[in-house]
Amino acid sequence: MSTTTLSVGPWSALGSAASQVRNAVFVQEQGIPAEMEWDVADQDAVHAVVYDAQGEPVATGRLLPQSPGVARIGRMAVLKTLRGSHLGQRVLEALVQAARERGDVEVCLHAQTSAQGFYERLGFTPRGAVYAEVGIPHIEMFLDIR
Ligand SMILES: CC(C)(COP(=O)(O)OP(=O)(O)OC[C@H]1O[C@@H](n2cnc3c(N)ncnc32)[C@H](O)[C@@H]1OP(=O)(O)O)[C@@H](O)C(=O)NCCC(=O)NCCS
Repeated sequence: MSTTTLSVGPWSALGSAASQVRNAVFVQEQGIPAEMEWDVADQDAVHAVVYDAQGEPVATGRLLPQSPGVARIGRMAVLKTLRGSHLGQRVLEALVQAARERGDVEVCLHAQTSAQGFYERLGFTPRGAVYAEVGIPHIEMFLDIR
C-alpha cells in the first residue's frame, strides 16, 4: 500500500470521497440508516481521506471540536477488503496530529467496542461504561496529547 496518498482538509474538498467510504462501510456493510450517517458537523470538521493508487478513496475519518481544548474523532472507516493494512492507523494519526497542531490537549472518541483494540493499540484509553448508539455497543475513549 505504499502508493496510497493521504489528504487532510475541509468537507468542501474531501466530502464526496469521505461519503463514498462511509456509505460502503456504515450504510451498506453495517446497515446504519443513511440519514443517521450525515450531519451538519461535517461542515465544520477536519476530514482525512486515504486514496489508493487509482485515486479511489479507501479510508476516512473526521475531527470535530468537542469542548475547548478537546477534539473528537469520528466516522473512522476503512473499506473491508483493505482492513489490517494500517490505513486506519494513518487516518487516526493524521487527525490526532491536526488536533495537536491546533492546540488541543485531548482527543476523545466514541468507539464501537469491536474497534476498541484498534484504538488501544494507538494509545487511547477507555473511559466509562459501554452504551448503545444506533443499536451498536460503544465505549468512550480518550488520548492525552499534551
Ligand atoms: C476500525 C478500523 C477503522 C481499523 O482500520 P484498519 O485499517 O483495519 O486498522 P489498521 O490496519 O490501521 O490497524 C492498526 C493496528 O490495530 C490492529 N487492529 C485493527 N483493527 C482492530 C480491531 N478491531 N481490534 C483490535 N485490533 C485491531 C491492527 O491489527 C494493527 O495492529 P499492528 O500494528 O500490530 O499490526 C476498520 O476496521 C473499520 O473501518 N472498521 C469498520 C468500521 C468501524 O468499526 N469503524 C470504527 C467506528 S468507532
